[in-house]
Amino acid sequence: MNLRIMTRIGMLSCVIAAVALDVALAGTGVVEPAAVDRGREALTSRSFLKPEWSLEIYENVAELWGGEAPDPDADPEAYALAFNRRYGLHPAPFPNDGLPMGLKRSTDPGTGRQGLQVDCLVCHGGSIGGQSFVGLGNSQLDMIGLYQDFFQADGRPIFFTGFTVNTVRGAVNAGQMAAVLISLRKPDLSRRLFPILHGSKFPETDVPAWWNLKYKDTSYYDGRTDARSVRSNMQFMLGEKNREQFEELEPAFADILAYLNSIDAPSYPFEIDANLAASGRAIFENQCAKCHGSYGDEPSYPNLIVELDRIGTDPARALAPSDLLVSHYNSTWFAEEYPVDEVMTGYQAPPLEGIWATAPYLHNGSVPTLEQVLDSSSRPDRFRRPPSTDFEHYDTDRVGWRVEILDPVSPEAANREKDRSIFDTGRYGLGNQGHTFGDALRPDERRAVIEYLKTL
Ligand code: HEC
Ligand code: HEC
Repeated sequence: MNLRIMTRIGMLSCVIAAVALDVALAGTGVVEPAAVDRGREALTSRSFLKPEWSLEIYENVAELWGGEAPDPDADPEAYALAFNRRYGLHPAPFPNDGLPMGLKRSTDPGTGRQGLQVDCLVCHGGSIGGQSFVGLGNSQLDMIGLYQDFFQADGRPIFFTGFTVNTVRGAVNAGQMAAVLISLRKPDLSRRLFPILHGSKFPETDVPAWWNLKYKDTSYYDGRTDARSVRSNMQFMLGEKNREQFEELEPAFADILAYLNSIDAPSYPFEIDANLAASGRAIFENQCAKCHGSYGDEPSYPNLIVELDRIGTDPARALAPSDLLVSHYNSTWFAEEYPVDEVMTGYQAPPLEGIWATAPYLHNGSVPTLEQVLDSSSRPDRFRRPPSTDFEHYDTDRVGWRVEILDPVSPEAANREKDRSIFDTGRYGLGNQGHTFGDALRPDERRAVIEYLKTL
């Protein structure tokens, strides 16, 4: 089932179908299996950036952990597990030189020196129930912990960004990284001497699942970017590449986007009560589908961006890009084909396929379970995220992660600056308010809707 193709075919019925269809689908790549294969290959086997760290840090970094670490030579599996737990990484479901998803061997084309680098999957590769998935947002990643340790293990100066990368595992501030990098470039991508002071303050967020991208006409949480934009996915290389290199790499990123648009969500692996799900479906169609779309035989996805007043979730991400940042970005090579919308502020109601696997919920990951999404009064203010994505921490009733709820004045909460397993909804951008659309459901109706959501 592919909602996006369905909508496009509908829209195009009155145009010269053959030609127009070809053009409309070119951006999604869904019809070109060869591009999908090339994209998968490029994403999983190529490192697009020069090495950042020496190869040795994979083992050296254990010296910083304090206490006993498994011996990487005597017991590589135990070592890999300890390494992955510490930084929130997951085994690669493809050949990766023994490294977890998100880390890659890379060669400096100038010097031939080999080393390590991160890639898209450090954020976009996750696991659940012991199985890794390319495209599942990484809900365990400790990005700042990883950078700080890796720099230190390599004998480099302390890693410093000037903005908050993440206060909690699983959240990451990709927005501010991109905003800082683009502020150092001119419209033709040559480097500026001083950054543009655009005044944007992005918060850390959750990472969206790639398998819903194929349904979307617009991407990112605020829905301001055309989902066909290949170049927007290349921003992470702004620290290194020049204009010529960006242009050279664009075809590979078109393939990568084709691959992202081909990824399917995994199915719910536990039993589903079919009768209960059927009654949940009726409620969903009635109360939720107008924003989230319909699934099943006649799928549709409305691609709605819901205004902040109406959705009421934490506004920081939607309000983050300043007008100056947007107009600067739109003046650059990145936006030539697909400029960012200059006025819209809200959150896109996402497609809900594979929603069982993508807890915690909302754009900032502030809500551990679907039940709490649908009952805003039951959401915890401070909690500790589970130590892994194993099913022992998964809650099949409420659907999502079992979390340890913390007393706001407990010693753990006082010490929370140091403990990035603690999610504190009082922090910038991490509020858990809003999306009250499930509050009026009776408990039995809510159960039914949750059962239906398992089937998506
Ligand atoms: C540092 C973590 C990180 C890395 C690395 C990263 N992303 Fe993302 N990505 C995110 C986050 C967070 C978002 C959501 C951003 C937002 O809307 O604020 C996102 C959003 C996206 C989206 C839009 C998804 C949607 O449904 O709207 C695409 C596509 C995407 N990333 C592709 C990539 C590709 C391709 C790469 C590698 C070239 C990459 N990302 C590297 C964190 C990352
Ligand atoms: C007025 C439009 C609207 C209605 C009605 C609505 N939602 Fe949402 N929903 C949204 C938006 C927008 C978001 C994203 C909010 C955010 O992340 O800040 C969202 C987020 C969600 C999420 C979290 C998605 C994720 O990936 O984390 C779930 C689950 C959800 N909605 C389920 C439902 C269900 C079930 C109903 C019906 C009871 C419903 N919604 C009704 C607009 C709506």
